[in-house]
Amino acid sequence: MHALPDEAADGGPPALRLPFDMAVLEHRPIRTERMVLRPLAASDADDVWEYQRLPEVLRFIPWPERNRTEARGHTELRAGMRRLQADGDAVFLAMVLAGEPSLQEVASGRARPDRVVGDLMVRVGSLQNAQLEVGWVVHPGFQGRGLAAEGAAALLDLAFGRFAAHRVYAHLDARNAASARLCERLGMRREATLLEEEHGEEGWEDTAIYGMLRREWRRLRVG
Ligand SMILES: CC(C)(COP(=O)(O)OP(=O)(O)OC[C@H]1O[C@@H](n2cnc3c(N)ncnc32)[C@H](O)[C@@H]1OP(=O)(O)O)[C@@H](O)C(=O)NCCC(=O)NCCS
Repeated sequence: MHALPDEAADGGPPALRLPFDMAVLEHRPIRTERMVLRPLAASDADDVWEYQRLPEVLRFIPWPERNRTEARGHTELRAGMRRLQADGDAVFLAMVLAGEPSLQEVASGRARPDRVVGDLMVRVGSLQNAQLEVGWVVHPGFQGRGLAAEGAAALLDLAFGRFAAHRVYAHLDARNAASARLCERLGMRREATLLEEEHGEEGWEDTAIYGMLRREWRRLRVG
């Protein structure tokens, strides 16, 4: 867990503590109550495929349907994104559930009781204004256990505590009730609903924006 930054951070000009290299989390991954959060790796492709291929997972995230080979390439691409430095940079954390065998390990006959059950994203929205975007996906077989909330709470700590974000936000398809509940459980506020922001397969789609300010996070963490 990161130390709570001092109060002065709110008064001064916004400044994200970047650059950040994922090698740091390779050496010292984040540990939550039930999971280890470490950089997504190309070797996680089998576990990721297990949820990336499911229509219910794809419904509200801007991923196209991919075949297994394309999905592997997508995981490799995301695993290769290792640095936060400029607007648009993103990094991905694997949510590794201890005691759940990885499919890759099962297939290879090696027993490693760690499976990637989801992943988390943090993206630089605006370096100048210290704004970070977060995102999440969890295998449906592991939803409904509070794992997304546990991982996302650690993600907020990373964003505010280590990177010194001023505001952290998430963009959701407005119909994504599970993700909206997660945002609210985390203490994020619904900041806006953008009507008919995108045109998708089901017609015009609304976007919900949830956000949390640094002082709100600190209040939550201090109690
Ligand atoms: C959004 C998503 C990550 C939420 O996952 P989730 O498992 O529902 O979220 P949480 O970890 O907060 O779990 C909450 C549920 O677990 C239950 N739960 C059980 N044990 C719990 C515990 N120890 N702590 C907290 N909640 C617990 C809660 O009651 C809650 O159930 P409810 O949603 O029916 O009220 C998941 O739906 C998902 O991956 N969707 C597909 C991808 C996607 O849309 N991503 C978001 C793009 S914006």
